[in-house]
Amino acid sequence: MNKEKFGSLRNAVQKTRETVKDNVNWETGNNWGIYESGLNRDERGDSYAELFSSVVPLDAKLTNLKKYIEIKLKSHKGQAVGIEVGGQGSRLFRDFSPGFFEKTLGVVLVDKRDEDQKSADEKMKHSVLVEDAFSSKGYREVKKWLGESKVNLICEKMHGASYDIPSDPDYLWLNLSRWYRLLDNHGIMLIQSPPIKKHDMETLMDWLVLTKHNFQGFLDVDWRSETISPKINRFGRIWLRLEKHDGAPKELPKLERNKIN
Ligand SMILES: C[S@@+](CC[C@H](N)C(=O)[O-])C[C@H]1O[C@@H](n2cnc3c(N)ncnc32)[C@H](O)[C@@H]1O
Repeated sequence: MNKEKFGSLRNAVQKTRETVKDNVNWETGNNWGIYESGLNRDERGDSYAELFSSVVPLDAKLTNLKKYIEIKLKSHKGQAVGIEVGGQGSRLFRDFSPGFFEKTLGVVLVDKRDEDQKSADEKMKHSVLVEDAFSSKGYREVKKWLGESKVNLICEKMHGASYDIPSDPDYLWLNLSRWYRLLDNHGIMLIQSPPIKKHDMETLMDWLVLTKHNFQGFLDVDWRSETISPKINRFGRIWLRLEKHDGAPKELPKLERNKIN
Protein backbone atom coordinates (compact mmCIF):
# COMPACT_ATOMS: atom_id res chain seq x y z
CA MET A 1 0.00 0.00 0.00
CA ASN A 2 1.42 3.42 -0.90
CA LYS A 3 2.11 6.13 1.69
CA GLU A 4 -0.83 8.31 0.62
CA LYS A 5 -3.33 5.45 0.84
CA PHE A 6 -1.98 4.39 4.21
CA GLY A 7 -2.29 7.95 5.50
CA SER A 8 -5.91 8.34 4.41
CA LEU A 9 -6.76 4.93 5.85
CA ARG A 10 -5.24 5.92 9.18
CA ASN A 11 -7.23 9.18 9.12
CA ALA A 12 -10.42 7.24 8.41
CA VAL A 13 -9.81 4.91 11.35
CA GLN A 14 -9.18 7.92 13.61
CA LYS A 15 -12.29 9.75 12.35
CA THR A 16 -14.43 6.67 12.96
CA ARG A 17 -13.11 6.37 16.53
CA GLU A 18 -14.14 9.98 17.18
CA THR A 19 -17.55 9.41 15.59
CA VAL A 20 -18.11 6.31 17.69
CA LYS A 21 -17.22 8.24 20.87
CA ASP A 22 -19.68 11.02 19.93
CA ASN A 23 -22.36 8.50 19.05
CA VAL A 24 -22.00 6.63 22.34
CA ASN A 25 -22.32 9.90 24.27
CA TRP A 26 -25.31 11.01 22.25
CA GLU A 27 -27.03 7.64 22.19
CA THR A 28 -26.74 7.17 25.94
CA GLY A 29 -29.19 10.00 26.55
CA ASN A 30 -31.12 10.09 23.29
CA ASN A 31 -33.03 7.82 20.95
CA TRP A 32 -32.59 7.39 17.23
CA GLY A 33 -35.58 8.22 15.02
CA ILE A 34 -35.06 4.95 13.20
CA TYR A 35 -34.51 2.07 15.55
CA GLU A 36 -35.20 -1.66 15.79
CA SER A 37 -36.35 -1.83 12.18
CA GLY A 38 -37.99 -5.04 11.13
CA LEU A 39 -37.58 -7.15 8.05
CA ASN A 40 -41.01 -6.55 6.57
CA ARG A 41 -42.56 -3.37 5.32
CA ASP A 42 -44.22 -1.54 8.17
CA GLU A 43 -46.12 1.64 8.84
CA ARG A 44 -42.87 3.59 9.45
CA GLY A 45 -41.60 2.67 6.00
CA ASP A 46 -38.21 1.87 7.30
CA SER A 47 -37.87 -1.85 7.12
CA TYR A 48 -35.09 -3.82 5.44
CA ALA A 49 -37.67 -4.78 2.81
CA GLU A 50 -38.33 -1.12 2.10
CA LEU A 51 -34.68 -0.34 1.48
CA PHE A 52 -33.34 -3.53 -0.07
CA SER A 53 -36.17 -5.15 -2.08
CA SER A 54 -35.04 -3.37 -5.23
CA VAL A 55 -31.59 -5.00 -5.06
CA VAL A 56 -33.09 -8.47 -4.64
CA PRO A 57 -34.31 -10.38 -7.72
CA LEU A 58 -37.87 -11.04 -6.58
CA ASP A 59 -40.12 -13.17 -8.80
CA ALA A 60 -43.37 -15.16 -8.67
CA LYS A 61 -41.90 -17.56 -6.09
CA LEU A 62 -39.59 -15.26 -4.20
CA THR A 63 -42.20 -12.60 -3.69
CA ASN A 64 -40.70 -10.68 -0.80
CA LEU A 65 -37.44 -10.25 1.09
CA LYS A 66 -38.35 -12.73 3.82
CA LYS A 67 -39.24 -15.45 1.30
CA TYR A 68 -36.17 -14.63 -0.73
CA ILE A 69 -33.82 -15.07 2.23
CA GLU A 70 -35.54 -18.16 3.67
CA ILE A 71 -35.66 -19.94 0.31
CA LYS A 72 -32.08 -19.02 -0.57
CA LEU A 73 -30.90 -20.26 2.83
CA LYS A 74 -33.29 -23.22 3.05
CA SER A 75 -30.51 -25.80 3.41
CA HIS A 76 -29.55 -24.02 6.66
CA LYS A 77 -33.08 -23.90 8.08
CA GLY A 78 -32.88 -24.39 11.85
CA GLN A 79 -29.12 -23.91 11.80
CA ALA A 80 -28.80 -20.51 10.18
CA VAL A 81 -26.74 -17.80 11.85
CA GLY A 82 -27.60 -14.11 11.41
CA ILE A 83 -26.00 -10.83 12.46
CA GLU A 84 -27.28 -7.28 12.35
CA VAL A 85 -24.35 -4.87 12.40
CA GLY A 86 -25.34 -1.49 13.84
CA GLY A 87 -28.66 -2.62 15.22
CA GLN A 88 -30.03 -4.62 18.13
CA GLY A 89 -31.55 -7.07 15.67
CA SER A 90 -34.25 -8.26 18.08
CA ARG A 91 -37.11 -7.16 15.89
CA LEU A 92 -35.37 -7.96 12.61
CA PHE A 93 -34.78 -11.62 13.43
CA ARG A 94 -38.21 -12.03 15.04
CA ASP A 95 -39.72 -11.32 11.62
CA PHE A 96 -38.31 -14.57 10.21
CA SER A 97 -40.11 -17.91 10.59
CA PRO A 98 -39.72 -19.15 14.17
CA GLY A 99 -36.75 -21.48 14.51
CA PHE A 100 -35.26 -20.57 11.14
CA PHE A 101 -32.12 -19.23 12.81
CA GLU A 102 -30.15 -21.25 15.30
CA LYS A 103 -28.62 -18.12 16.78
CA THR A 104 -28.57 -14.42 15.98
CA LEU A 105 -26.64 -11.36 17.10
CA GLY A 106 -27.05 -7.59 17.07
CA VAL A 107 -23.93 -5.39 17.34
CA VAL A 108 -24.55 -1.92 18.78
CA LEU A 109 -22.86 0.88 20.68
CA VAL A 110 -25.52 1.02 23.41
CA ASP A 111 -27.87 -1.77 24.46
CA LYS A 112 -31.27 -0.11 24.88
CA ARG A 113 -33.28 -3.22 25.76
CA ASP A 114 -35.25 -3.50 28.99
CA GLU A 115 -35.24 -6.69 31.08
CA ASP A 116 -38.39 -8.07 29.38
CA GLN A 117 -36.82 -7.64 25.95
CA LYS A 118 -33.61 -9.26 27.14
CA SER A 119 -35.38 -12.37 28.41
CA ALA A 120 -37.54 -12.55 25.24
CA ASP A 121 -34.32 -12.40 23.19
CA GLU A 122 -32.69 -15.06 25.29
CA LYS A 123 -35.55 -17.43 24.51
CA MET A 124 -35.01 -16.75 20.81
CA LYS A 125 -31.23 -17.37 21.17
CA HIS A 126 -30.67 -13.77 20.22
CA SER A 127 -27.72 -11.91 21.77
CA VAL A 128 -26.69 -8.27 21.71
CA LEU A 129 -23.02 -7.34 21.68
CA VAL A 130 -21.99 -3.83 22.71
CA GLU A 131 -18.94 -3.09 20.59
CA ASP A 132 -17.72 -0.79 17.84
CA ALA A 133 -18.35 -2.92 14.77
CA PHE A 134 -15.62 -1.09 12.85
CA SER A 135 -12.91 -1.83 15.40
CA SER A 136 -10.58 -4.81 15.55
CA LYS A 137 -11.82 -5.57 19.04
CA GLY A 138 -15.45 -5.54 17.89
CA TYR A 139 -14.55 -7.90 15.08
CA ARG A 140 -12.70 -10.25 17.43
CA GLU A 141 -15.69 -10.33 19.79
CA VAL A 142 -18.02 -11.23 16.93
CA LYS A 143 -15.66 -14.03 15.92
CA LYS A 144 -15.65 -15.25 19.51
CA TRP A 145 -19.44 -15.32 19.53
CA LEU A 146 -19.43 -17.24 16.24
CA GLY A 147 -16.98 -19.92 17.36
CA GLU A 148 -16.68 -22.42 14.54
CA SER A 149 -19.79 -21.11 12.74
CA LYS A 150 -19.95 -18.92 9.68
CA VAL A 151 -22.70 -16.35 9.10
CA ASN A 152 -25.54 -16.96 6.67
CA LEU A 153 -27.06 -13.49 6.80
CA ILE A 154 -25.37 -10.16 7.59
CA CYS A 155 -27.59 -7.06 7.63
CA GLU A 156 -26.56 -3.48 8.25
CA LYS A 157 -28.39 -0.19 8.01
CA MET A 158 -27.13 2.42 10.45
CA HIS A 159 -28.80 5.50 8.97
CA GLY A 160 -27.85 8.66 10.89
CA ALA A 161 -25.31 6.78 12.99
CA SER A 162 -23.12 6.32 9.93
CA TYR A 163 -23.36 9.92 8.77
CA ASP A 164 -19.82 10.78 9.86
CA ILE A 165 -18.18 7.49 8.92
CA PRO A 166 -15.59 8.34 6.24
CA SER A 167 -16.43 7.31 2.70
CA ASP A 168 -12.81 6.58 1.76
CA PRO A 169 -13.24 3.57 -0.58
CA ASP A 170 -10.23 1.73 0.85
CA TYR A 171 -11.63 2.11 4.33
CA LEU A 172 -15.10 0.93 3.33
CA TRP A 173 -13.59 -1.97 1.41
CA LEU A 174 -11.50 -2.96 4.45
CA ASN A 175 -14.56 -3.16 6.66
CA LEU A 176 -16.64 -4.95 4.06
CA SER A 177 -13.86 -7.48 3.48
CA ARG A 178 -13.78 -8.34 7.18
CA TRP A 179 -17.49 -9.13 7.21
CA TYR A 180 -17.14 -10.97 3.93
CA ARG A 181 -14.66 -13.36 5.55
CA LEU A 182 -17.28 -14.34 8.11
CA LEU A 183 -19.94 -15.06 5.49
CA ASP A 184 -20.72 -18.70 4.77
CA ASN A 185 -20.91 -20.16 1.28
CA HIS A 186 -24.33 -19.10 -0.15
CA GLY A 187 -24.48 -16.44 2.56
CA ILE A 188 -26.21 -13.11 1.96
CA MET A 189 -25.13 -9.60 2.90
CA LEU A 190 -27.42 -6.54 2.86
CA ILE A 191 -25.38 -3.40 3.50
CA GLN A 192 -26.23 0.30 3.58
CA SER A 193 -23.18 2.51 3.02
CA PRO A 194 -22.51 5.74 4.89
CA PRO A 195 -23.08 8.90 2.85
CA ILE A 196 -20.42 8.92 0.16
CA LYS A 197 -18.50 11.80 -1.36
CA LYS A 198 -18.83 12.26 -5.10
CA HIS A 199 -15.37 11.11 -6.18
CA ASP A 200 -15.49 8.18 -3.74
CA MET A 201 -18.81 7.18 -5.27
CA GLU A 202 -17.19 6.92 -8.70
CA THR A 203 -14.43 4.64 -7.34
CA LEU A 204 -16.92 2.44 -5.53
CA MET A 205 -19.19 2.20 -8.58
CA ASP A 206 -16.22 1.14 -10.72
CA TRP A 207 -15.39 -1.54 -8.19
CA LEU A 208 -18.96 -2.82 -8.04
CA VAL A 209 -19.23 -3.01 -11.83
CA LEU A 210 -15.89 -4.84 -12.10
CA THR A 211 -16.71 -7.25 -9.29
CA LYS A 212 -20.08 -8.09 -10.82
CA HIS A 213 -18.47 -8.63 -14.21
CA ASN A 214 -15.33 -10.51 -13.15
CA PHE A 215 -16.99 -12.84 -10.64
CA GLN A 216 -20.22 -13.64 -12.44
CA GLY A 217 -21.59 -16.98 -11.22
CA PHE A 218 -19.42 -16.92 -8.09
CA LEU A 219 -20.47 -13.69 -6.49
CA ASP A 220 -23.94 -12.27 -6.93
CA VAL A 221 -23.70 -8.50 -6.51
CA ASP A 222 -26.44 -5.95 -6.96
CA TRP A 223 -26.87 -2.42 -5.66
CA ARG A 224 -28.72 0.81 -5.95
CA SER A 225 -27.42 4.24 -5.19
CA GLU A 226 -29.21 7.42 -4.33
CA THR A 227 -28.11 11.00 -4.49
CA ILE A 228 -28.58 12.94 -1.28
CA SER A 229 -27.77 16.29 -2.80
CA PRO A 230 -25.39 16.93 -5.68
CA LYS A 231 -24.68 20.33 -4.10
CA ILE A 232 -23.24 19.02 -0.88
CA ASN A 233 -20.00 17.20 -0.38
CA ARG A 234 -21.73 14.06 0.81
CA PHE A 235 -23.21 12.80 -2.39
CA GLY A 236 -25.18 9.62 -1.87
CA ARG A 237 -25.57 6.22 -0.33
CA ILE A 238 -25.30 2.71 -1.73
CA TRP A 239 -27.55 -0.20 -0.80
CA LEU A 240 -25.72 -3.40 -1.59
CA ARG A 241 -26.67 -7.07 -1.78
CA LEU A 242 -23.79 -9.51 -2.01
CA GLU A 243 -24.13 -13.30 -2.12
CA LYS A 244 -21.41 -15.92 -2.13
CA HIS A 245 -21.84 -18.90 -4.41
CA ASP A 246 -19.75 -22.04 -4.97
CA GLY A 247 -16.31 -20.97 -6.13
CA ALA A 248 -16.59 -17.48 -4.63
CA PRO A 249 -13.18 -15.99 -3.80
CA LYS A 250 -12.01 -16.52 -0.24
CA GLU A 251 -11.25 -12.82 0.09
CA LEU A 252 -13.37 -9.93 -1.16
CA PRO A 253 -12.10 -8.90 -4.63
CA LYS A 254 -9.59 -6.08 -4.32
CA LEU A 255 -10.58 -2.51 -4.88
CA GLU A 256 -9.08 -1.96 -8.33
CA ARG A 257 -10.16 0.05 -11.32
CA ASN A 258 -10.28 -0.77 -15.02
CA LYS A 259 -9.40 -4.43 -14.79
CA ILE A 260 -12.07 -6.40 -16.57
CA ASN A 261 -10.77 -10.00 -16.92
C1 LIG B 1 -30.17 4.77 13.68
S1 LIG B 1 -29.91 3.30 14.59
C2 LIG B 1 -30.42 2.07 13.39
C3 LIG B 1 -30.78 0.77 14.08
C4 LIG B 1 -31.26 -0.34 13.15
N1 LIG B 1 -30.18 -0.82 12.32
C5 LIG B 1 -32.41 0.11 12.30
O1 LIG B 1 -32.24 0.21 11.08
O2 LIG B 1 -33.48 0.34 12.86
C6 LIG B 1 -28.13 3.18 14.55
C7 LIG B 1 -27.58 1.98 15.31
O3 LIG B 1 -26.22 1.79 14.92
C8 LIG B 1 -25.46 1.49 16.06
N2 LIG B 1 -24.07 1.86 15.76
C9 LIG B 1 -23.59 3.06 15.36
N3 LIG B 1 -22.27 3.00 15.17
C10 LIG B 1 -21.90 1.73 15.46
C11 LIG B 1 -20.67 1.05 15.48
N4 LIG B 1 -19.54 1.67 15.15
N5 LIG B 1 -20.66 -0.24 15.84
C12 LIG B 1 -21.80 -0.87 16.21
N6 LIG B 1 -23.00 -0.28 16.19
C13 LIG B 1 -23.04 1.00 15.84
C14 LIG B 1 -26.07 2.31 17.15
O4 LIG B 1 -25.70 1.83 18.44
C15 LIG B 1 -27.56 2.11 16.82
O5 LIG B 1 -28.01 0.94 17.40
